[in-house]
Amino acid sequence: MIITLDGPAGAGKSSTARRLATRLGWCYMDTGAMYRAVALAALERGLQLEDQEALAALAAALVITFRDGRVLLDGRDVSVEIRTDRVTTATRPVADAPPVREAMKQLQRAMAEQLDVVTEGRDQGSVVFPGAALKIFLVASPEERARRRYRERLESGDGSQSVDDILAAQTRRDDGDRHRPVGAMEAAADAIRVETDGLSLDQVVEQILALARRRGVTPAVPRQLPEAGAGSTISSAQ
Ligand code: C5P
Repeated sequence: MIITLDGPAGAGKSSTARRLATRLGWCYMDTGAMYRAVALAALERGLQLEDQEALAALAAALVITFRDGRVLLDGRDVSVEIRTDRVTTATRPVADAPPVREAMKQLQRAMAEQLDVVTEGRDQGSVVFPGAALKIFLVASPEERARRRYRERLESGDGSQSVDDILAAQTRRDDGDRHRPVGAMEAAADAIRVETDGLSLDQVVEQILALARRRGVTPAVPRQLPEAGAGSTISSAQ
């Protein structure tokens, strides 16, 4: 079974999807991290970011693994590196390239096959998993999203950008995500919009769990095993 969580940057997709997967005892797939990993690999190999076919071939050849909340690229932990500004910038042309998106769609479907997965991104409900059991489109106001991102950066010791700087960068990314020719960020027609302004992570997760229960989704393991989902391994090599 698949639950998709799509929405703009900073809406809380990652923390919500991770917590949801843990509560259900399901695997968690962060497709933004996958695009970032391809961008990192392209930079490391010195590929031209305009060479869409080369990027797509690279995307198809990499082994991306999610394990214990970490992202592995060909077995190497790249969880921190893929979040640098340099990689974020390079992810744009990678995610805009239709052949890369096609390769990633096949990869994501293959990774999720036979598994129960909470997957997050921009196009998971609309393009990659049209038959998902539950599709959520997570939204929050731009200001709230920028404030959250600012607090997250501060917590990780990075106060280099003001809330306004983050808001401006976020608006540029949102525009790019909405207007790319293939795989543009959009809610699937049958997605349920969940507004997260003013809600805690737990409240958002409870809301989605209630919706999931109504679709017949049941946890794979007893709820008192809190880390059961987080330890799941999901890999493009499976
Ligand atoms: O979610 P995150 O910010 O890590 O995603 C990195 C970039 O990858 C985003 O800016 C978005 O453009 C792209 N992306 C995408 N499709 C997805 C997930 C992410 O195009 N399913």
